[in-house]
Amino acid sequence: MSILSGKKVLLAISAGIAAYKTASLVRLFIKSGAEVKVIMTPASKDFITPLTLSTLSKNPVESTFYDKDDENELWNNHVDLGLWADIMLVAPATANTMSKMANGTCDNLVLATYLSAKCPVYFAPAMDLDMYKHPSTKNSLAQLQGFGNVLIPATSGELASGLIGEGRMAEPEDIVSFIENDMLSKLPLRGKKVLITAGPTYEAIDPVRFIGNHSTGKMGFALAKSAANLGAEVLLITGPTSQQILHSFIHTIHITSAQEMYDAVHKEFANVDIGILSAAVADYKPKNVASQKIKKTDHSLEIQLTPTKDILASLGAIKKHQFLVGFALETNNEIENAIGKLQRKNLNMIVLNSLQDKGAGFAKDTNKVTIIDADLHEKTFGLKSKNSVANDIMNEILQKINA
Ligand code: CTP
Repeated sequence: MSILSGKKVLLAISAGIAAYKTASLVRLFIKSGAEVKVIMTPASKDFITPLTLSTLSKNPVESTFYDKDDENELWNNHVDLGLWADIMLVAPATANTMSKMANGTCDNLVLATYLSAKCPVYFAPAMDLDMYKHPSTKNSLAQLQGFGNVLIPATSGELASGLIGEGRMAEPEDIVSFIENDMLSKLPLRGKKVLITAGPTYEAIDPVRFIGNHSTGKMGFALAKSAANLGAEVLLITGPTSQQILHSFIHTIHITSAQEMYDAVHKEFANVDIGILSAAVADYKPKNVASQKIKKTDHSLEIQLTPTKDILASLGAIKKHQFLVGFALETNNEIENAIGKLQRKNLNMIVLNSLQDKGAGFAKDTNKVTIIDADLHEKTFGLKSKNSVANDIMNEILQKINA
């Protein structure tokens, strides 16, 4: 899945022959899952028609603040467009448009929108080689980069003039992958490896029966998605669950029992930066697992249980650089019990959910948590969807690891 999936891309086209390539650019953004709106300088319409671009982007294309000939025409609000966008791309960025952007000139819709945009702005210059080399163009490039705008460099090759040199707009495929890579490199958990446990564990009684619990894995899967969206490489170790996740940054390992989860976690822990153990691991397992199905009799049946290994505590005992987060599910003396677990298991943070809170806990789509850090600072959040809770937890972790 592309990082552009679900993102709002505002493509601003200025008047260069490379404008004909913006049709492919719109197609590629749409293919990557982005929503696209196109704005144009009036002169760029000589190079590609708004009809082509509105058909491809499935959105109206604007080039003026309003249509003088249509008395019902609405004002094309550049501020709204600027705020709508997650990213703005000026392509092709001509010498004229770049110079105006660099100097705050605001005589068309593209420039007014550029000045209003709060999102990251990319620009892909396109012009003839001598124009590209001109000191005034170099000034514009430097000034725009100084504003934090991101240059997608022009390439060398044959130009519309027939001359050969630098000034060709980067190819649409290269522009899209440049933006994807740039966005990825700026994600706050880029380069970090996060291990997450999720779901229940099943402890076998015999070949057909087990001891389990009602955990669905929803919270752990939401955490995996949130961490991956922040750029982390996620290793999701999950017990039996109907949850599914498809994300290029998430590698899922399926296990069944507490011992299998323990083994899988320990195999990976040395290489991870953050461990978040949200699984509802069985605390006990049958001491002996019958090799054949246990037959029904008239007598009562006793199954002797023996403790499983506490995975979280075992990681707390060996952790070095890792930031370790546990969960506590409590029904009474919530805060004291959670702090007890935080300290006993040597954690950096614990997420408490109380079963006394309506809407929190197993099999629900919502959760209500209190996050307690190693300095015993508490932060209580309201009832939210598990996806939002996951984002809150990841934000707290980010703040701590960057503090
Ligand atoms: N945990 C674990 N391995 C276990 C049991 C629990 O890794 N064998 C982890 C859970 O994933 C969770 C945390 O420990 O992050 C706390 O789980 P919880 O069931 O609330 O606490 P326990 O330590 O099992 O204590 P108790 O059941 O007595 O409350």
